[in-house]
Amino acid sequence: MAKDHTTMKKTQTNPKVSLLRKQRAPLNTTTDLDAKAVRDVSGAMNAILADVFALHLKTKNFHWHMSGPHFRDYHLLLDEQAGQLFAMTDPIAERIRKIGGTTLRSIGHIARLQRIDDNDAEYVEPEDMLAELREDNRMLAARLREAHGVCDDRHDIATASLIEEWVDEAEQRTWFLFEASRRGDSTGH
Ligand SMILES: [Fe+2]
Repeated sequence: MAKDHTTMKKTQTNPKVSLLRKQRAPLNTTTDLDAKAVRDVSGAMNAILADVFALHLKTKNFHWHMSGPHFRDYHLLLDEQAGQLFAMTDPIAERIRKIGGTTLRSIGHIARLQRIDDNDAEYVEPEDMLAELREDNRMLAARLREAHGVCDDRHDIATASLIEEWVDEAEQRTWFLFEASRRGDSTGH
């Protein structure tokens, strides 16, 4: 008995050392992707996540401050689009965690990474709201395509597969915003 106890003691890890090791790498998720892949894909997707949060809030901002004769249509369209953007956020963040990266922690973190410009203007014309969101969604689709390239280079097919769906959604939002903001030019008036 005494012998077994001594042997066990020798093979046990020093709890202080083990705690230190945990503190250094407590959020490493097991993955077969290499460290470069984790770094590059996480970097690309965190920037996308910041853009999506920024565009979600901007779309809500315009939904809340919409005005004019098309109020109901535009107000509802933007709510639908804001919901679609918000639905992307959790899958993006969790995808980053699944491969062992860390993700956004605060509004301040979003502000540091976002490439979508905020619009804090007191009043924005309804047509200008639609045009601005159309351009933001077009840019988001382009950046998603760039991120897809990073995933391809690093063999992260699962993130690439999610991105393909999100590109389609961004293009649909762009299309709706484009059609909704046409000024009756096809009617001959
Ligand atoms: Fe609402």
